[in-house]
Amino acid sequence: MVPRILADPTSISCESLNYSYPGAPGPALSGVSFEAPPGEYVGVVGPNGSGKSTLLRLLNGLLVADSGMARIGGRDPKSEPFEVRRRVGMLFQNPENGLVAPFVEDDVAFGMENLGVPREEMQVRAREAIRAVGLSGYERREPHTLSGGEKQRVALAGLLALEPEILLLDEPTSMLDAAGRRDVMGRIGTLRGDRTILHVTHHLGELLDADRILVLNGGKLVADVSPERLVLDADLLAKNRLVLPPLSRLATGLGLAAARPRTPEELAREIQEIIRKRAAAR
Ligand SMILES: Nc1ncnc2c1ncn2[C@@H]1O[C@H](COP(=O)(O)OP(=O)(O)OP(=O)(O)O)[C@@H](O)[C@H]1O
Ligand SMILES: [Mg+2]
Repeated sequence: MVPRILADPTSISCESLNYSYPGAPGPALSGVSFEAPPGEYVGVVGPNGSGKSTLLRLLNGLLVADSGMARIGGRDPKSEPFEVRRRVGMLFQNPENGLVAPFVEDDVAFGMENLGVPREEMQVRAREAIRAVGLSGYERREPHTLSGGEKQRVALAGLLALEPEILLLDEPTSMLDAAGRRDVMGRIGTLRGDRTILHVTHHLGELLDADRILVLNGGKLVADVSPERLVLDADLLAKNRLVLPPLSRLATGLGLAAARPRTPEELAREIQEIIRKRAAAR
């Protein structure tokens, strides 16, 4: 197993992070500060172009901040990019960007190879991860011949096999079919607890049981709230182009059993009740 050393009690922290792409008219990210302790599951939402992917790229050292500070397990992605990437697994918004090897099985093993995981262990972990994302039989397929959703699954398998301490997930379910999305969300759920997860998505329904949700807009962090508060704040939702999932999906996401039929009004009342109870329990 890859050793896990935590140099700092805070898994992810950034303070007044600023970044402008070369030649861009304005900053892609400005003054972003937040902290995520180990084990926290943090959602990141916001309109297109609000800076979500830029934030993840700054955290894993793919981009270097113009000013401000980012730390991963106490380390600076700018001065210690390799140390940071040992701890961080990133799923790119476009899965093509993460696929590097000639065959699926090599691709899934790639991250482990870089970390020096012994060959036999690597093969077992790669096979198990490929099975977990529903791609058994695809081991010798060439990644570029796969569909978008299949590529996204291969990228996820690479991450699952690597078992990183910190996961940066940029729209990990965007190309998946409905059952695939449910399966992947279930998988992410099993990783919760001992891993810190930053999950960017346009589907608020995926974040109903997140520990908190960061809302980015125009490169600024405009809210850092619990899912319960966000769901009840119509103004915050509207200003940030966020839309609640349909009632039935909201109910399922909140764990409301579909054992008996309900009118939409009944369902809405029960959902509000659950949200109030959760908000009170925090
Ligand atoms: N390589 C680049 N060069 C110049 N500008 C860029 C580049 N990548 C992103 N931007 C700009 O930076 C801003 C933030 O982009 P980013 O990709 O972080 O947004 P996002 O929140 O991830 O959006 P989406 O929901 O569409 O994925 C946007 O205005 C975008 O046009
Ligand atoms: Mg993005």
